[in-house]
Amino acid sequence: MLGNFSYVNATKLYFGEDALQFLHEELPKYGKNVQLIYGGGSVKRNGIYDAVVEILRANGKNIVEDGGVMPNPTVEKLREGVKIARENHVDLLLAVGGGSCCDYAKAVSVSVNCDDDPWDKYFERFEEPECEIVPVGCVLTMAGTGSEMNGGSVITNHGKKLKVGHVFGENVMPKFSVLNPKFTMSLPKRQMVAGIYDIFNHICEQYFSGEDDSTSDYIAEGLMKSVIHSSLIALENPEDYEARSNIMWTATWALNTLIACGKTTDWMVHMLGQSVGAYTDATHGMTLAAVSLPYYRFIMPYGIAKFRRFATQVWNVDPAGKSDEAIAAEGLAAMESWMKKLGLAMNISELGATEDMIEGIADGTFILDGGYKVLTREEVVQVLKASL
Ligand code: NZQ
Ligand code: ZN
Repeated sequence: MLGNFSYVNATKLYFGEDALQFLHEELPKYGKNVQLIYGGGSVKRNGIYDAVVEILRANGKNIVEDGGVMPNPTVEKLREGVKIARENHVDLLLAVGGGSCCDYAKAVSVSVNCDDDPWDKYFERFEEPECEIVPVGCVLTMAGTGSEMNGGSVITNHGKKLKVGHVFGENVMPKFSVLNPKFTMSLPKRQMVAGIYDIFNHICEQYFSGEDDSTSDYIAEGLMKSVIHSSLIALENPEDYEARSNIMWTATWALNTLIACGKTTDWMVHMLGQSVGAYTDATHGMTLAAVSLPYYRFIMPYGIAKFRRFATQVWNVDPAGKSDEAIAAEGLAAMESWMKKLGLAMNISELGATEDMIEGIADGTFILDGGYKVLTREEVVQVLKASL
């Protein structure tokens, strides 16, 4: 049964090959000073930076440079971004990049007019912003996180060996996001597939929970089928516009808060993966891939009906003459062979995790209670060891 919920999504999207031109409609809504946020340089190599700068200039904006946002943005970089925003009285934070740039922009946005240290306030005490928020806009160059249409922001604190996400409210979501599938075509294959698995796992996190027969689960199955289908086309031909656009759109749907409406959600793969990320600084989607199968095989007996449904509806497993357990296991085996075909990381050792890190990674894993089984700390260790 669907629980009670309210739903709104505050982000305006512009999707398609010509989407960037819509910046001309959005920019006049904001003041003169625009903090131009980008990563390690991909946008300079593929021409997106120049295209954005040209539009900013045409709209009379004063550009405040803020490059060098690293994948898995750090708290030190966040504090630097806040300083830049304060010193330049910025009116708009424009993130041009993947989830890291967009997450970072949101974290800067809630911290500019706030005296507290952003880590302590948002990523340790999980407070809500009561200060004035600087608006965020996004030009997305990587499909995966859904950050372009949600309030999530994930920041890494290497000193504390923690990677922590805060889901802010609708006022912190990007005011607008530009989604041009062509912008994702310069992604290296490893990043493309990591993004694809991130999308798939966001759907799983919201699917593997509850005993219900909710509309959300039917939507989730459709999204999973779409991303599996398009991933195999993009793997063969990364320039296939239809596949890349389906992947980009599925990423947004997978985590724009819609499919979680009215149901409980799991998110334990993300909790495990994020803690692995805090220790290894590995690519987000790869950390998820590396812990997924050990985790799902562990919880499968507690949610057997849903795992059976996953097998038959998403992976077309023929149920005839088989036990529920056998059907469910076949579904996970099909998922495993798809993951291997994509070339995903299948264990945390290949991401640099070692046995002596396991206790620390377990300490950094938040244990949530929305899935089929609330793990004990010993079970977290068990899943992590099985992921080595
Ligand atoms: O830094 P540059 O040079 O731009 O290179 C980036 C980066 O190295 C590169 N890249 C991006 N677009 C490209 C490109 N290279 C060539 N061509 C392009 N068009 O890809 C690398 C990864 O980028 P990044 O932004 O780090 O990837 P992603 O979008 O996967 O974001 C990952 C971050 O988002 C967080 C993750 O934890 C991680 O910190 N997440 C945010 C979520 C949210 N807001 O809801 C949810 C997710 O579960 C996730 O936790
Ligand atoms: Zn994710």
